[in-house]
Amino acid sequence: MAIKDLTHVARHLFLCNGSSCAARGAAASTVALREEIEARGLHECIHTTKTLCNGRCDDGPIVIVQPDGLWYKYMDPAAARRVVVEHLGAGTPVEAHVLYAWGDRAIDDRPVPGVSVPPPAEVTVPRG
Ligand code: FES
Repeated sequence: MAIKDLTHVARHLFLCNGSSCAARGAAASTVALREEIEARGLHECIHTTKTLCNGRCDDGPIVIVQPDGLWYKYMDPAAARRVVVEHLGAGTPVEAHVLYAWGDRAIDDRPVPGVSVPPPAEVTVPRG
């Protein structure tokens, strides 16, 4: 079993390879992303982990970048390589594939299947 030195890791990418993302080509985007990381010598500072379902199958393949809190949708090999070059390399998210950024109030107008979230309650600030 490999033991990775984590002291230089600056980003952790979660690469969804659940069944729905796999059916949409997650394996190819996973390979492309990891190849690009290796080709650019970023292996020491970027860690990747393949995951099972992350709950956004309709948007898959999904890639999550932490600690940036950024979720990417519709990953394909070209998009995966752009994430490495543009986001990880230059600090510019690949906007066309951004699904969600941590702190956003909404992803889009489609609900997460099976999840019902009530609207936020009105907050009344007492006046003194
Ligand atoms: S299988 Fe990837 S989000 Fe569900």
